Amino acid sequence: MSENTTHFGFRTVPEHEKANMVRAVFDSVAGKYDVMNDLMSIGIHRLWKRIAVDLAHVRSGEKVLDLAGGTGDLTALFRKRVGARGFVVLSDINAEMLRRGRDRIIDDGLAESVAYAQIDAEKLPFPDDSFDCISIGFGLRNVTHKDKALNSMYRALKPGGRLIVLEFSEVHNELLRKAYDLYSFKVLPFLGKLVANDAESYRYLAESIRMHPNQEKLKAMMEKAGFERCEYFDLMQGIVAVHRGYKF
Ligand SMILES: C[S@@+](CC[C@H](N)C(=O)[O-])C[C@H]1O[C@@H](n2cnc3c(N)ncnc32)[C@H](O)[C@@H]1O
Repeated sequence: MSENTTHFGFRTVPEHEKANMVRAVFDSVAGKYDVMNDLMSIGIHRLWKRIAVDLAHVRSGEKVLDLAGGTGDLTALFRKRVGARGFVVLSDINAEMLRRGRDRIIDDGLAESVAYAQIDAEKLPFPDDSFDCISIGFGLRNVTHKDKALNSMYRALKPGGRLIVLEFSEVHNELLRKAYDLYSFKVLPFLGKLVANDAESYRYLAESIRMHPNQEKLKAMMEKAGFERCEYFDLMQGIVAVHRGYKF
């Protein structure tokens, strides 16, 4: 692949076009995002998110940055852990996703100590050593320059802070992988068409999962960005993995 191209699902596109294409996907799905998540995963994404937050070991009073936070599932969980003495920034590059996240946080009565930021995970506008924990849930896959994003996260974490990456990953079991492929490439676009009137975005979802670095590759990328004690936890045979790394 040449220097100026990248993946958008299975397609190779000019790097500068990917962010706009990703934006179009989330503009299109924002209204049905939560209902589709529940439908596609039969609600299991809620459990994955709880596990990711458990692995972050955040304590009362800590400062958390939820990147690519969308409709705010992780933010809500973190906010309950850090309490009103702590602080969570719900952030996303997409205004529509962020607006829905903000409305939801307010509706859940969690608005105190939550701030909102429309930002690109590649260029974090925070001083060095700002956060105790940074999370990115089902977001890194969509970022054009993952290395830049990881470097930026490392910089914005306090010493002793940890990064949590929750993302689809590589399925280990051969039989499960075949069933999962069938589900991803046949059922997901069908559900997307039926519920969100958008098969293409859900085809992108399936393709982008396959193109995302697997568990070991992502761990190596985190180490390259400077993170230490990097490890990952496979959920459901690797359908999803939680990566954790520390800045010391
Ligand atoms: C699949 S959603 C995940 C939302 C939420 N974290 C969750 O787990 O439900 C992916 C989100 O990543 C956001 N996103 C894509 N590229 C981004 C970037 N470069 N920086 C920040 N957010 C980005 C999208 O706008 C979208 O809201």
